[in-house]
Amino acid sequence: MQTRVLTGITTTGTPHLGNYVGAIRPAIAASRRDEVDAFYFMADYHALIKSDDPARIERSRLEIAATWLAAGLDPERVTFYRQSDIPEIPELTWFLTCVTAKGLLNRAHAYKAAVDKNVAEGEDADAGITAGLYMYPVLMAADILAFNAHQVPVGRDQIQHIEMARDIAQRFNHTYGRDFFVLPEALIEEQVATLPGLDGRKMSKSYDNTIPLFAAGAKGMREAILRVVTDSRLPGEPKDPDSSALFTLFRAFASEAESQAFRTALVDGIGWGEAKQVLFERIEADVAPMRARYDELMARPAQIEAVLQEGARKARAVAKPLVAELRDAIGLRSGAAVALGTPAPTAAVPKADKPPRFASFRDADGRFRFRLFAGDGEELLLSQPFDDPKAAGQIQKRLRSLGAAAAVVQSTPAGTMLELDGVAIARLQPGAEEGAMDPALARLRQALDQLAAQD
Ligand code: TRP
Repeated sequence: MQTRVLTGITTTGTPHLGNYVGAIRPAIAASRRDEVDAFYFMADYHALIKSDDPARIERSRLEIAATWLAAGLDPERVTFYRQSDIPEIPELTWFLTCVTAKGLLNRAHAYKAAVDKNVAEGEDADAGITAGLYMYPVLMAADILAFNAHQVPVGRDQIQHIEMARDIAQRFNHTYGRDFFVLPEALIEEQVATLPGLDGRKMSKSYDNTIPLFAAGAKGMREAILRVVTDSRLPGEPKDPDSSALFTLFRAFASEAESQAFRTALVDGIGWGEAKQVLFERIEADVAPMRARYDELMARPAQIEAVLQEGARKARAVAKPLVAELRDAIGLRSGAAVALGTPAPTAAVPKADKPPRFASFRDADGRFRFRLFAGDGEELLLSQPFDDPKAAGQIQKRLRSLGAAAAVVQSTPAGTMLELDGVAIARLQPGAEEGAMDPALARLRQALDQLAAQD
């Protein structure tokens, strides 16, 4: 089985060298592994939380898409899309919002930091904080859960968000009595280098110390590298590679042998100016061919758009059926089905193609029940009510694993009951007349076998 690896890139800035080494390059390398099913997307709804500048949002989306494609992302292999092209994500966000404890969101680091800052400045605790910032973790949970991702590569600052996604998923699974969602895991790449920026601190947009990746051209990159801080040792004096940002930057691109040679040159007293030229040329050897592709792509936004539209189509093929199942589970069903006590007619759908399915719901007393429908929509079972949604979920699981062997029935005054371990757990074909039970039982057996074959 493939591992689904999903990550989002917030579209507020222009990619820099630190983004390339720390996120883009490792993510593209991972996407080439056979056991990985990669979903990479532009988190442009998240970008709205950070920026209300439409031009910046638009430009960043384009630059980030072009950057990843130019850096070698293969859209045939990777499902590459924009968050805002997937309407199932905001829909799922609301479903999740309704099971998320407000207290959980109060504890989110980003929100808490904003509150602490306000309080420290003597402001109202929530001054200037949007509901968007507050809801950020739920939107991110929907990004992940809509595709049942197993692993989510993120920076350390995002670990809490993944834990919240797990929490929210569990809460939903528990409330509606079935394992709708895979519980995602954060994937923290330990080996990936964090690059120093111009001032020697971690390269980050918030420190304004970045070296642009493609957007400033070779000239802009060279100028930036010339501004990297060094100590004041003169040419001829030995330099300490291990405390030099230049050496760290070099190593992020070079082979072991190249790094050794650069180390020796520094120890032997190469001047900083010359060392910067060596560094520029080494980085440029990797970056120049990608930059050429980037420039080509940026000149053809329609081509990028077509790639992203295709990505959205692939992504929705996954999210749409899941969200449809959730709608059913939470009670947002077709009015026709409710009125008739049967699911909406599915005459237009070829019968043999659809598998049988369980649908869980809460009855008027707040207790948990489920129905089993045949692939053609015929209702086969209506369960007894359960106080604990888990118990209802467990029984569905057992029925799935047993297959037709689970079809043990008993005739009672209340109707024909399906028994499990001697206990009546569901009524067969509610509404069927006397004498119609044998064919009903045959259809139930068939459906149970189909379910068992799926697992
Ligand atoms: N919050 C992430 C960041 O700032 C971006 C993001 C949005 C994301 N949705 C996601 C990452 C889903 C992983 C999975 O880095």
